[in-house]
Amino acid sequence: MITDLFSNLSSTWLLILIANGFAKFNGSPFIVLVPGGGSKIVLPSSLSDWVKTNRDLDHQELVRQEYFARYSGFEAQYAIHHPWDRVLIDTLRTKLSQHIQDELLKTVSQSIEAALDEYWGNDTEEWHTIDWERDTTGLISRAAASVFTYVKDFLTAVGTLQMLPKVIRPIVHRFFLPQSSSCRVLIKEARILVEKYLKERTAQQNDFLSWAQQSQSTIHSADIQLGLAVAALFTTTEALKQALVDIALNPSAIPLLRKEVSSLFQAGGLTQTSVNSLSLLDSTIKESQRLTPFLTGLERIALNSTTLPNSKTVIPKGSITVVSSLDQWNPLIHQHPDKFNENRFFAANELKLSFVHILEKYDVRIKPDEQGGKGPKSVQYGFFAIVDPGIQFEVRRRKRKEEDVGVGL
Ligand SMILES: *[C@@H]1O[C@H](CO)[C@@H](O)[C@H](O)[C@H]1NC(C)=O
Ligand SMILES: *[C@@H]1O[C@H](CO)[C@@H](O)[C@H](O)[C@H]1NC(C)=O
Repeated sequence: MITDLFSNLSSTWLLILIANGFAKFNGSPFIVLVPGGGSKIVLPSSLSDWVKTNRDLDHQELVRQEYFARYSGFEAQYAIHHPWDRVLIDTLRTKLSQHIQDELLKTVSQSIEAALDEYWGNDTEEWHTIDWERDTTGLISRAAASVFTYVKDFLTAVGTLQMLPKVIRPIVHRFFLPQSSSCRVLIKEARILVEKYLKERTAQQNDFLSWAQQSQSTIHSADIQLGLAVAALFTTTEALKQALVDIALNPSAIPLLRKEVSSLFQAGGLTQTSVNSLSLLDSTIKESQRLTPFLTGLERIALNSTTLPNSKTVIPKGSITVVSSLDQWNPLIHQHPDKFNENRFFAANELKLSFVHILEKYDVRIKPDEQGGKGPKSVQYGFFAIVDPGIQFEVRRRKRKEEDVGVGL
């Protein structure tokens, strides 16, 4: 996706490009050029199922290539897209579904609460504009500053490298790109920190590091931690922003959502079961993501040449394919079915808990004079859109009212 981040084409232009492409080539696949000298084959939506079931088309390998997973300093990316060492991932999957339950939820909830106090404020009941980027990202990840720096530097380095001709990428990465050096330094430090921490702590704890230690995997836990941060931060924050904007633009939904949150916690308190049954909130978040215009999805690389069904068109080995989503805006999370399930699980909890706290404690709105009848615009970067980065988003701490039950988190 990073390629597209930097290609900076307008949404309309791309829609026209894809629509024209299909018109011109009579519904058959066509090729678009991407920055850095590559190309992608755009397939019609009707081939979605064929793509999903075709073993010659692989997503993981594409991610490893596009994000330079074998480059030094980028081990975090390799760790979570490792070609064969799935032990850690599998452990994480089984352990998470057993243990994520209430303990983990409470931790996440507390950290969201603290983040809201810090970033959105708890000492004034006046409307004030939040720092859109910092005060949304800060909510999603309260990770250490160095983890943020790693994620940022990694994404910047990848974006820069993708713009360059293939042959010079390794050299630029090795000797010239400051963000690449920064990643090498940070990953080394992270590993030392994690090892030191594990050596010093005596009791086994019910957390990721312990599970990792117990697994047979040779992947360093620090790499996985950073890899998870890379995978989660951008998409979850975007989902939060989009849902915030949508809720602010549909204030009539807010009382209903508040009612759901209150009555639920009145009964059961904070458990995975109660969070799972926040169905109105859940569908609000999902709907919000469905409306986010992704133009393509299901990106794959051909491990072997493969022939399109009902035609003689061959997709040569090594080509990259994407499927058009022109006729259906799929939810962000479903657009990336290959992306890490654990993340999605984390993300769903994190998003829902964020809104539980936000709805309880804040009123939200787009700054009134900003609306001008039009509302915020999303900004298109290549094949996908992000929420208007210049939005003036206002929040106000709510007075605790009699009818508020309080979620007691
Ligand atoms: C407000 O937030 C600060 C941290 O930013 C915290 O120390 C304080 O306890 C909070 N106050 C209330 C009343 O929650
Ligand atoms: C690639 O496809 C060819 C022809 O279908 C087949 O003979 C070969 O075994 C395939 N290679 C791999 C690695 O799947």
